[in-house]
Amino acid sequence: MHWKLKSKIQNAISRLPSAASYEAYYWVQRHFGGLRQVVPTSRFIAAIETWKRIQNQERSPTGKVFLEVGTGRVPLVPIGYWLMGAESTITIDLNPYLKGELIAEHLRYVSEHEDEILALFGSLIDRRRLNVLVRFGTKSKLSATELLDLCQIVYIAPGDAANTNLPEQHIDFHTSYTVFEHIPPNVLVDILREGNRIIKKECLFVNRIDYSDHFSHSDKSISAINFLQYSDNEWAKYAGNRYMYMNRLRHDDFLALFESVGQQVVEVEPNIDRRSEELLKTKGLSLNDRFSPKTIEVLAISGAWMLTQKNG
Ligand SMILES: C[S@@+](CC[C@H](N)C(=O)[O-])C[C@H]1O[C@@H](n2cnc3c(N)ncnc32)[C@H](O)[C@@H]1O
Repeated sequence: MHWKLKSKIQNAISRLPSAASYEAYYWVQRHFGGLRQVVPTSRFIAAIETWKRIQNQERSPTGKVFLEVGTGRVPLVPIGYWLMGAESTITIDLNPYLKGELIAEHLRYVSEHEDEILALFGSLIDRRRLNVLVRFGTKSKLSATELLDLCQIVYIAPGDAANTNLPEQHIDFHTSYTVFEHIPPNVLVDILREGNRIIKKECLFVNRIDYSDHFSHSDKSISAINFLQYSDNEWAKYAGNRYMYMNRLRHDDFLALFESVGQQVVEVEPNIDRRSEELLKTKGLSLNDRFSPKTIEVLAISGAWMLTQKNG
């Protein structure tokens, strides 16, 4: 679908009254978008990647408390943490997007593809917990509440990660997966400051951030940096709605943001997008003034894993 048509549909749906808007957006995603397929693999991989990166920093995630910002439709990342031995995960979302029927379908997938799940997690799996989950997924009626209890997941929605009401030094790891690019910069600052308050000393923030123009995920005619040609006002007309908001912060902006809240980077792994790099080198895209002063090296980065720690 051409991205401008998609933008028109999202804008129209976002203007409906709240409950009708959520239902309509879900229906569209389910029939035409990313929710057509029920496969938990990508979010389990996200959990595994996060887990391994923590281990690579000489920390043990086993038996620890996670906070996940931005749950989305199915709490797959928290289920993944539990399957690898986390004590519990508090997962918080501004929007109550969790969907019982989707959760049930994902659980059935796990039950029917046990060998695939085992291969995915490898030696990280807690075999006993997987057995319990596989059995749970075969039940004729699956309750989301029972699943959350089983996997030691506390779901807070609607809730704001900038104001969790959790006690100080309550969590061991503060994580998010493809969430920070959707949050306005001033709110991100508040979320990270709140994170600094609730995280234990010397513990880690692990964020996977996708800097790409998300319209390029479904419209292959445009590149990952297509949105950098627009001013903030022009861009707001296309994506300034609750479903597609993207802050367009670049890698250097995120590094500065973490520094501004008193965090130091302990590991960063940026991904370079070669198509964007080529476009930038050949001046195939006219950049808006907000982005034109930045280097090609920065602008061609389409996403990153970022591990940070509170100073001092
Ligand atoms: C693109 S979705 C990603 C969901 C999930 N992590 C995934 O990978 O499927 C971003 C999520 O962040 C949530 N979100 C946005 N601002 C938030 C905030 N201040 N606190 C908590 N969640 C927030 C949105 O409601 C949305 O569910």
